[in-house]
Amino acid sequence: MNEKNRVVLTGDRPTGKLHLGHFVGSIQNRLKLQEEADKAFYMIADVQALTDNADNPEKVRNNVLEVALDNLACGLDPAKTTFFIQSEVPEIAELTVFFMNLVTVARLEQNPTIKTEMKEKGFVMKGEEGEVEAGTKIRNVPAGFLCYPISQAADILTFKANEVPVGADQLPVLEQGNEIAEKFNAYYGETFSKIKGVVPEHGRVVGIDGNAKMSKSLGNAIYLSDSKEEIEQKVMQMYTDPGHIRVEDPGKVEGNVVFAYLDIFDPKKDEVQELKKQYQNGGLGDVAIKKRLIEVLESVIAPIRERREYLAKDPKMVMEILKNGTEKARQTAQATLKEVRAAMKIDYF
Ligand code: TRP
Repeated sequence: MNEKNRVVLTGDRPTGKLHLGHFVGSIQNRLKLQEEADKAFYMIADVQALTDNADNPEKVRNNVLEVALDNLACGLDPAKTTFFIQSEVPEIAELTVFFMNLVTVARLEQNPTIKTEMKEKGFVMKGEEGEVEAGTKIRNVPAGFLCYPISQAADILTFKANEVPVGADQLPVLEQGNEIAEKFNAYYGETFSKIKGVVPEHGRVVGIDGNAKMSKSLGNAIYLSDSKEEIEQKVMQMYTDPGHIRVEDPGKVEGNVVFAYLDIFDPKKDEVQELKKQYQNGGLGDVAIKKRLIEVLESVIAPIRERREYLAKDPKMVMEILKNGTEKARQTAQATLKEVRAAMKIDYF
């Protein structure tokens, strides 16, 4: 029997340098899947970034190179993964328009990912007027932002990708993509197969302040390009257990950010379990566990930072990788759109 082709696609919005949340949330799975899959694509989602940065195109433009550098430095390999820029593949925008007819506005407004992100960005939806701070415009969400799950479905299905490494917070977006694909197949004939989200085994990395989400806007992120001094500073600021005042006091491990990070990044799991016990019994200080974490994070980030600095000396080479990848990606995209137009009976000439 013929095994199904494994096609992987992921992307980042170019709105800032990438941090440990991205690394654990998706980059580690990208690295694994580029070895296993038949084909892999990595997209810089500049069109999606513009859905909430329409007034700041410089920011998006400048961060295209930054996110490309972050991914290359982590080991995403252009010989195995096709790198491309979303806006340079207009077939994605075309498919987005066709997909628009397959989703209701109500369904978009109910998408949990969209709802959470709208709150974070200060966008307000219908029916929420009462909850809004004085002075906020009502229903100020850009249509493009509300519709980004549609364009994300098009990002994926233009390449007929079936495995998508993402953080768990993106799963509702992929689910909506599957609904769109199903409806497309029902109306126009079997064209797209199911999208499967590939989520990290560790869950997510919390912010250094203990907030469930690490993000640039919350100012609680550790970047893949941070210097050793920056890592030191951030770890020393980390939230631990406010009740753990003297070294001899028993300390709490739950909600303690330092232990949450050790659980994810420290390869010596047995030692971490031992340290947790000591900390809970009293007799282990915050500074001692923070020093350990600094070394652990430095060993993760140092090789990435060094490779990044080396690659950053030749931005032309990086743009060349994006250009070659984009040309290759467009060929796949054109083939899919030809099939889509025929299925939709809009292939006139
Ligand atoms: N929405 C994703 C994020 O915020 C980025 C993204 C855009 C993406 N298009 C994609 C991820 C396609 C996976 C597949 O991180």
